[in-house]
Amino acid sequence: MTLAEPTAVATTPQAPAEPVTDWDGFDFETRQVHAGEYPDLNTGLRVPPIALSAGYVFDSFDDQVGRFAGQAQTDEGPEPGPIYSRQGNPTNGVAEARLASLEGGTVAVAVSSGQAAISSALFTLAQHGDHIVSTASIYGGTRILFGRSFKRFGIETDYVWDVEDDAEWDRVIRPNTKAIYTETIPNPRNDVTDLRRIAAVAARHNLPLVVDNTVGTPALIRPIEHGANIVVHSTTKFLTGHGAAVGGAIIDGGTFDWEAAEQAGRSFPLVTASPRPGLGSMLDRFGRGAYARAVREAVVNDIGPSLSPFNGFLLHQGMETLSLRMDRHVDSSLEIAAWLEEQPEVESVDYAGLPSNPLFELAQRDYGVDASGRGRTGSVFGVTVHGGIDGARAFVDGLRVFSRMTGIGDTRSMIIHPLSSTHATFGSEINDRLGITPGLLRLSIGLESSGDLIQDLRAALDRV
Ligand SMILES: Cc1ncc(COP(=O)(O)O)c(C=O)c1O
Repeated sequence: MTLAEPTAVATTPQAPAEPVTDWDGFDFETRQVHAGEYPDLNTGLRVPPIALSAGYVFDSFDDQVGRFAGQAQTDEGPEPGPIYSRQGNPTNGVAEARLASLEGGTVAVAVSSGQAAISSALFTLAQHGDHIVSTASIYGGTRILFGRSFKRFGIETDYVWDVEDDAEWDRVIRPNTKAIYTETIPNPRNDVTDLRRIAAVAARHNLPLVVDNTVGTPALIRPIEHGANIVVHSTTKFLTGHGAAVGGAIIDGGTFDWEAAEQAGRSFPLVTASPRPGLGSMLDRFGRGAYARAVREAVVNDIGPSLSPFNGFLLHQGMETLSLRMDRHVDSSLEIAAWLEEQPEVESVDYAGLPSNPLFELAQRDYGVDASGRGRTGSVFGVTVHGGIDGARAFVDGLRVFSRMTGIGDTRSMIIHPLSSTHATFGSEINDRLGITPGLLRLSIGLESSGDLIQDLRAALDRV
């Protein structure tokens, strides 16, 4: 008997496939499925596989020389090939190209967590002796990051409490300020941000505007369209979508005028200075993708918060259903927020999409509206029950479908008490100003049936 020859998979090594990024002009729903995919030249696999390899083979001595020189060469020729997975990986490359497309940016860099994304984004702009300005209402972990690690590394942060007050911005921005930082939909209070207003301040001061769009996601708002220059994400949340993998990303909008900023006295040496004699700056060599290149080569490669390709796979797969999931998250949130507002045990609901909210008009202008004219401001919001901390305890302990846990943007609904968790270290001076009160709870509405969630909330409110 003659055995059939095994099918040849590949007889000669193939050039590494490049992500297919030319999906411009296609709708969001098409790009979230296709942008960044690459043809697997060896096997024809339809789903980009998990490339679990720490490094890459050099074809020859000269190839190695060329690849290393490629990181530093001044010509405009093609990239000579990858070196090591700390700098990039084909699986993560799919996620990066997809996210850059969805956010409307030039280049994205995937990293190991949202905190790594924020740190890497800002370390590329600011160094010891520099300063950043942030809006006051941001994720508690970011406030801790700025107040502890950034401070230890010699980067100071000032906060602006009234985004509408130009004089307050002008008071805190200094000659050594290197970035303005904000979020689209801060939690727990769903106090959506007027990006255009902040972008105008940033432009007036020649500062890049860095926006955390974790809670908004590009399905609800694309900060670059509103004047942001750089977008960061905790991809742990809605983008990966299922609560299984920690990750982060930085997206370069390609819109910041680095030369004008330099001329105005704001220096960004990792982007605009030559790293060594004979070599052009990132800006000279990579134009509108220069900042992302600096993030990857000068910060992520040095410090090392690379994303596992396994998590990169979950991220690019998660993004394929982003808009579908966000529609559902938002529809349920609107229904539940409106319902909660009517309950006698509830003191207040912080959801900018509701007409009763002071930010409703802004929500309608910038964050999309549903069929009945309400804003689509995500699925993470605050609810305050009567009875302070005792009311909060009784309510939380009465829930069954909601998980008591830290985290947001999961398929599962979650609840946490901010004053004793995310905001526990800030003290009353800050928490009072932020509206973090004893009875406030943060909800993250998942993909379960809204009817079941309402029943669960009703049963728990009975105990308040
Ligand atoms: C808005 C926002 N940014 C950043 C982070 C940090 O992300 P990670 O937990 O992936 O480090 C979080 C985490 O909850 C967040 O909510």
